[in-house]
Amino acid sequence: MKLTKETLRKIDDVIPRYPDKRSAVLMVIHLIQDELGSISDETCEWIAEKLDLQPINVKELITFYPMLRETPWGKTHVRVCRTLPCALRGSYATCQKLEKKLGVKEGHVREDGEYSIEFMECLADCGEGPVVMVGEETFENIDEKKAEKLADQMLKGKLEKSAEFVSYEQGLLSDSPKKAKKSSSKAKK
Ligand code: FES
Repeated sequence: MKLTKETLRKIDDVIPRYPDKRSAVLMVIHLIQDELGSISDETCEWIAEKLDLQPINVKELITFYPMLRETPWGKTHVRVCRTLPCALRGSYATCQKLEKKLGVKEGHVREDGEYSIEFMECLADCGEGPVVMVGEETFENIDEKKAEKLADQMLKGKLEKSAEFVSYEQGLLSDSPKKAKKSSSKAKK
């Protein structure tokens, strides 16, 4: 397993913040997953040795929490909310449309490793559903029709600069009062 100096430094910084080394285990897992995309058996062993644990103590966390991964997601990972408020506003159709357009079933990674989709519980933006996240960017009110356009923009590599799809996070950084107002609806929740 190879980690950058930056990640190794962050790991060494975070461990002394806890009274027991072992208490830093989730933080260390997250730091490594941020860099590698998943936690392999070899990585479990490395973490266990670092924190005076047994590898099984690390493995049981990886297999328990859905956000922790034994194998990486695709280069672009798409999350679709399936919890009731979003489901009532059509998130099942949204997910199906994205699956069709991106060529991958939810819970899987496309063969070429480019895309993966996760149909998952609440993404914490319940009043603006259906909610879709592309990487760390949140897109609101993505119904089936918009999902088709969103996927088109992704496939063309134009989503980042799209005028039609401004993520919640981009809206926060925008000077546009309209976008800022729209974004504030999530902040208030
Ligand atoms: S129910 Fe979809 S974001 Fe909460």
